[in-house]
Amino acid sequence: MLGADAAGIARAAEILRAGGLVALPTETVYGLAARADSEDAVARIYAAKGRPGHNPLIVHCADVAQAERIARFDESARAAAATFWPGPLTLVLPFRADSGIARRVTAGLPTIALRVPAHKVMRAVIEQAGVPVAAPSANRSESVSPTGAEHVLATLDGRIDAVLDGGSTECGLESTILAIREDGTGEILRPGPIDAQRLRNTGIALGPASGRGIEAPGQLARHYSPGKPIRLDATEAAPDEFLIGFGEVEGDFQLSSGSLEQAAASLYAALHLAARSSMPRIAVAPIPSAGIGAAINDRLRRAAAD
Ligand code: TXA
Ligand code: MG
Repeated sequence: MLGADAAGIARAAEILRAGGLVALPTETVYGLAARADSEDAVARIYAAKGRPGHNPLIVHCADVAQAERIARFDESARAAAATFWPGPLTLVLPFRADSGIARRVTAGLPTIALRVPAHKVMRAVIEQAGVPVAAPSANRSESVSPTGAEHVLATLDGRIDAVLDGGSTECGLESTILAIREDGTGEILRPGPIDAQRLRNTGIALGPASGRGIEAPGQLARHYSPGKPIRLDATEAAPDEFLIGFGEVEGDFQLSSGSLEQAAASLYAALHLAARSSMPRIAVAPIPSAGIGAAINDRLRRAAAD
């Protein structure tokens, strides 16, 4: 376990340069990082997570200039990056195959997912490593994403070189993924902290879902599973259920008394807690779908799918 101080940051950067794996805090969830220009280092991410090789990774850059060396940005992409980077937005753009990024990162797709994270520690590590960093969420494939260092260790202990403990993450949900199409329109492949309205406000036209969502295989699979059956829109708990409450519905754990931002930030901690509880089933109070509520409900539906 590394600390979120100068020594911890320097050590994390050193491990990355040497081709190792470090779990790092971002403003969304913890990421499992490896240098994105090394086929071997990237292969280690897939192995540690037990992730299928056809599910591509997000590359995290220090700044827009580094990102523009990896993908082609049109006017819409530049507008989105200028407004939301650094921050919880991932852009899927045409990949520059000669950029030196390992082919395994994109799983052979002609596009690549890029983001410039806002978390100070993550940014410092990327800058010191001097290379872009591939990082999926730091959990075993299909399990709940980590919003604290202890969640990372719960599924990846012994499979990675280090975890840098930066405390709880701020947003608590993975970044919004926006694909920019050849005609400049956008398609949300994964709802997240930046909602559709905020994207439209920057002048980006959002096309209807093309069904090409198959491009984000991680989005189709059973996902975010706490390993127990989940019942949604519950207003009270059955005797064998751990109830995750929101608003008026009082649970064994309360997401928030009404703030959706707070609910997003505590959702995965609640699922981790519910998974560890003695109750064999989980129930979740209704969550409104406004703003980040759409992303919360997206994750809950996937967690409840069997
Ligand atoms: O907030 C986040 O995005 C976190 C932090 C660590 O940055 N990362 C994250 O990564 O959630 P991961 O691997 O758990 O989810 C990445 C998603 C997957 O569903 C993957 O299929 C999709 O991004 N993806 C990656 N490259 C893609 C591409 N070229 N086209 C479409 N989808 C892509
Ligand atoms: Mg993930």
